[in-house]
Amino acid sequence: QNRNVAVIVGSLRKESLNRKLALALAGLAPAGLQLKIVEIGALPLYNQDDEANPPAVVTEFKQQIKAADALLFVTPEYNRSVPGALKNAIDHGSRPYGQSAWAGKPGAVVTLSPGGIGGFGANHHLRQMLTFLDVPVLQQPEAYIGGAGELFDEQGGLKKPDTQAFLEKFMGAFAQWIERNAKAA
Ligand code: FNR
Repeated sequence: QNRNVAVIVGSLRKESLNRKLALALAGLAPAGLQLKIVEIGALPLYNQDDEANPPAVVTEFKQQIKAADALLFVTPEYNRSVPGALKNAIDHGSRPYGQSAWAGKPGAVVTLSPGGIGGFGANHHLRQMLTFLDVPVLQQPEAYIGGAGELFDEQGGLKKPDTQAFLEKFMGAFAQWIERNAKAA
């Protein structure tokens, strides 16, 4: 079955390693999973005063999330938590109260860092939010990817066969998770 996966990248930087990883994951996904990055960089800072009359960029963001069958978060860790841009996007998608775009969509989390801890803190702070937002999140395998600086070649390809094999396994497990948790059409 074809499934559309909205990919949220937690870094806004042009040369983001997490964006490279998101693109690599799109290539490793099993047939039937279509990954598309939903951009968060143009969203304004969330302000509840604008909730009744949101700017077009917010409405479009929510529509793209609502249209997706599943959610893949690929993010760095900032100060042992999620980057503010990612939290901001999550807050936008969750409001107005009772009209969350996230609820019920199967999800998965990948964190990537140059350091050895692989974004563990961000990974679990994100999971805390996703629990509240009623997103069933893939539990295993967990994906804390360290050594980000040595992961990619000049073209953005994955240099390490063992990492590539792990990520392929991860995407296979995510595809099964999506089928198990997909809402009946
Ligand atoms: C970082 N970085 C970082 N790394 C980490 O492993 N744990 C951390 O807590 C932090 N904290 C942190 C805060 C801020 C404000 C910045 C800008 C960076 C380093 C970070 O992992 C590194 O810059 C990554 O390359 C960011 O991901 P992208 O932009 O390459 O996808």
